[in-house]
Amino acid sequence: MSQTDSLIARAAEQAASDTTACAIADAAHAAATSATASDIVCAANIAENPYKRDFPLLANHPDLAFLDSAATAQRPKTVLDAQRRFYEEMNANALRGLYRLSVEATEAIEVARHRVAKFIGAPDWHDIVLTRNASESLNIVAKAFAPTVLEPGDEVCITIMEHHSNLIPWQQACRDAGAKLVYLYPDEDGIIQPEEMDKKIGPKTKILSVVHVSNVLGVENPVVELGRRVHEQGGYFVVDGAQSTPHIPVNVEEIGADFFALSAHKIFGPFGMGVLWGKDELLRAMPPFLTGGEMIDSVTEQDATWAPVPEKFEAGTQDAAGIYATAAAIAYVESVGLDVIGAREKALVKYCMEEMAQLPYIDIIGSPRPEDHHGVISFNVRGIHPHDVASILDMDQVAIRAGHHCAQPLLTWLGVENLACCRASLAFYNDKGDVDKLIAGLKNVWSTFNG
Ligand SMILES: Cc1ncc(COP(=O)(O)O)c(C=O)c1O
Repeated sequence: MSQTDSLIARAAEQAASDTTACAIADAAHAAATSATASDIVCAANIAENPYKRDFPLLANHPDLAFLDSAATAQRPKTVLDAQRRFYEEMNANALRGLYRLSVEATEAIEVARHRVAKFIGAPDWHDIVLTRNASESLNIVAKAFAPTVLEPGDEVCITIMEHHSNLIPWQQACRDAGAKLVYLYPDEDGIIQPEEMDKKIGPKTKILSVVHVSNVLGVENPVVELGRRVHEQGGYFVVDGAQSTPHIPVNVEEIGADFFALSAHKIFGPFGMGVLWGKDELLRAMPPFLTGGEMIDSVTEQDATWAPVPEKFEAGTQDAAGIYATAAAIAYVESVGLDVIGAREKALVKYCMEEMAQLPYIDIIGSPRPEDHHGVISFNVRGIHPHDVASILDMDQVAIRAGHHCAQPLLTWLGVENLACCRASLAFYNDKGDVDKLIAGLKNVWSTFNG
């Protein structure tokens, strides 16, 4: 067995024990897999919702309806345990040492790369660059890769629904290169139509960078089609997967991405961990983003050469405990199953939007169809500032997000008043009880302002 194979085998063993330790009862899991949509939303409280027991924060706050998972998800106990286990049993600085603990810490990082690679369908685990978050991943592409291909007069194309993390880096890359930033605009339901692609993706498009699932509209963009079109024009395709990876299976090869970014804290992993996957030949050809320790091959007084990919992009000491916990988060997601996660979220979104439709003062932002929303429902309560809505809901123990959601150009383009809206974002651990609390809370908001 090669060293790599033995690492994978150990990762599989670890995943198996993580799953056993996890509080999901097999029976409950099987029941959820076979449940119909209405069975799923009927799990109205923690006693009937086995998933909430996996998440200490939710178990510690049984009266809280946590509806802000798009900002950051809660962490299951297995992830918290993994983080602690690393420090208690394995802590040493990875890569530097030749003693057993350091070698184990290094192995933990390699195992995590394997797990992430498998999770997103990456063909080679060496192309998994471990970063601090999705923002850093996207900055690596815009600041280290883009200057190697962008020339004056070229175009970078993004959508108007980008999170600032996939927008500001491109503004700067275009400014530096003398390129033009071009926007794809969706229709009123948030869908980017083929005619818009015809107009905006052309021979000048050197880079197309799009959000896979919007953090405001919840809509999934047609990434396969978009990737095909930009490649036909000889351009490169970058995908921001921060909001898709928590909800839907991803395969970077099927998508046709050249680069793909994600954030661990949105997929039930720790803060401070992100991933950039890139095509091997592109990662090898581009220069590093940050420089310093760990990312070098050799250093002289006046010069340095770089370590191979991925270390070339990982300057400084890595958060090995966070990386280890990220692998545990992926193991957890796989143990629940993205099919179960997707089915529960779809049912919850449908139920929530049907209930909201009964309230004539709620304006949904984006598509009226529940199937267009991956866990995210943005809305406003007519005539009431979103900050007031969120504050009153908070008094009723309902946590939602209100503001511009790091998507100011989108809210400006939509003409949303005050450049702010409310967002309820659901995860698979939510249930009908959470949605009922939100709806009751919204009725309370309305009556508070309207007597
Ligand atoms: C669509 C999208 N892209 C990128 C990001 C940035 O993620 P991070 O803050 O982890 O860098 C977010 C965060 O909310 C997001 O929703």
